[in-house]
Amino acid sequence: MSENETHPSNVIRHLYVHFPFCARICPYCAFYKTRGNAAEVARFCEALASEARRVAKKLPLTLETIFFGGGTPTVLSTAQLKNLLELFHEIFDLGALREWSIEANPGSVSVKKAAALRESGVNRISLGVQSWDNELLHLLGREHDAAQAEESFHIFRGAGFSNISIDLMFALPGQTEVQWRKSLQKTIMLQPEHISTYCLTYEEDTEFLARFQRGEFSAHDETEARFLELAMTTLERAGYEHYEISNYSRSGFHAEHNRAYWCGADYIGIGPSAFSTRGFERWQNVADHNEYARRLFANASPVASIEKLTPAMKRTEHIALGLRTREGIVADTIDQIQAEELISNGLLARNDSRVFLTRAGRLLADSVTIEVL
Ligand SMILES: C[S@@+](CC[C@H](N)C(=O)[O-])C[C@H]1O[C@@H](n2cnc3c(N)ncnc32)[C@H](O)[C@@H]1O
Ligand code: SF4
Repeated sequence: MSENETHPSNVIRHLYVHFPFCARICPYCAFYKTRGNAAEVARFCEALASEARRVAKKLPLTLETIFFGGGTPTVLSTAQLKNLLELFHEIFDLGALREWSIEANPGSVSVKKAAALRESGVNRISLGVQSWDNELLHLLGREHDAAQAEESFHIFRGAGFSNISIDLMFALPGQTEVQWRKSLQKTIMLQPEHISTYCLTYEEDTEFLARFQRGEFSAHDETEARFLELAMTTLERAGYEHYEISNYSRSGFHAEHNRAYWCGADYIGIGPSAFSTRGFERWQNVADHNEYARRLFANASPVASIEKLTPAMKRTEHIALGLRTREGIVADTIDQIQAEELISNGLLARNDSRVFLTRAGRLLADSVTIEVL
């Protein structure tokens, strides 16, 4: 069922907002993004407000988390950000909101912007540092260097943000374990509340995949596992809880919005390419910002595709996402003989009625998941 139809079921508590513009396009990135001009950005903001109004009118929302992702929402000017966030306050009832995150690229952060975000109610920053090594940042095509990333972190702290997450990527082409350890240590020195560490994926239709296919880059499971283990050891020793395969946090600072996805909660996504899931329906907005705006201004639906989820698909997602988390899943969800075998192999552990990955299991998370599905 798309957002155009009425739906009798539960209240929706989570909103994702996709902002599709970036100042520069990174060669590894497969998210829907583009380099827009000023007119396109302004037109998009109007269209986004229009979709927000439509969603607020049609769906039963009690928002507890909002995630502004992209793309790079911080490429907006301070005035544009203020206007957009002000509109969200007008359109939605934010009385129950606990977490409002925004993705920030160190290349587009300023003192004024950080202050405007804080004043507008954003309370969590996800800062895309990726690496503290300037050579690797160059290889990744990033628009910032390590010094700028550090300055951005301090700007957000100075603006009063007490919940900052840093994104890092590992198993990058040519990256050594020493470089990775240094990046982890540098991150710990800054004491963010949350750290996400993503293993580089060679995504379809990216320049990095083309280079991989030409043999310029290579990837090895053992190297990736070693990098993951180094992250686990270094960050856990520094007091961060490894609460999801790619995520670590100080106590009380789990990413609430992402947790909702992992738990299978319903969510609404607005903006081009954004997904929404409600019960057994998943739909996606058109992944083209011009077409997205055109449809909204013509009072047409931005939804491009609707998928019916079967109970089997829901179960697969529940296991795959749940096993990535510290809490794992209810043991009865999977075959008991297989569960016992994985427990005796030291890859799964049991706690009351739940099973979860052990430390060794986390290093082989994908294979364990495939086994139990
Ligand atoms: C939606 S991106 C946007 C963040 C923001 N635009 C930036 O680049 O700073 C969120 C995160 O996904 C991660 N990411 C993007 N592409 C990736 C890939 N191919 N492999 C692994 N992680 C990736 C990066 O760590 C990035 O910070
Ligand atoms: S990684 Fe971030 S800045 Fe780079 S292209 Fe993707 S969304 Fe844009």
